[in-house]
Amino acid sequence: MRTPKTAALLFLAALAVAGQQPGGVFTAEQSAAGRVAYEKTCGRCHTLTLMGRQGNPDERPPVSSLSEADQKFLAQFGGGRVPPLAGKVFLERWGSKTAAQLVARFQEARFSFAEAGLKDDEDIVRITAYVLEVNGARPGSQALTRGSAFVVNSAVHQAGEGSR
Ligand code: HEC
Repeated sequence: MRTPKTAALLFLAALAVAGQQPGGVFTAEQSAAGRVAYEKTCGRCHTLTLMGRQGNPDERPPVSSLSEADQKFLAQFGGGRVPPLAGKVFLERWGSKTAAQLVARFQEARFSFAEAGLKDDEDIVRITAYVLEVNGARPGSQALTRGSAFVVNSAVHQAGEGSR
């Protein structure tokens, strides 16, 4: 049995290791806030799993629960197809780009439709942190910024296989 003291030491050791990872390029606070912002905004269309839409009935939230404006917007794109923001297809497109490029692209998305769900402009940076996390990157001590120059794949692959 582990004593509380051993558990505390292990916890500290794990923190130290996480802090040292070059992959720690956003903070846990950023990605947690990003998740909340994402689910109110981008997640309506790109879905809660970030895997986008192909018209399958199990996609959440269901299209029928969205506002008329959202449904109209989606109908313009192949009958409701929405590209994924996580997984292989997404990383094939975005893995070799920098985090700064991803934030900039998300910023464009933010202004491409009427969006009331975002608190402030930093929400886009937080959403990017959340997207990186879902793609396998780990939070650390360094905050993500609009100027973060690391390549997306370097943070995502840092996390290693099978960690999620
Ligand atoms: C009302 C639905 C809707 C919302 C809300 C929405 N998107 Fe999208 N998004 C789409 C659709 C549809 C496309 C595909 C558009 C096209 O094919 O030109 C798309 C495309 C994208 C792309 C391009 C993907 C690629 O690999 O090229 C990115 C990036 C993106 N959205 C990010 C976001 C982010 C970040 C948010 C939240 C701030 C967001 N979207 C909110 C529907 C939406």
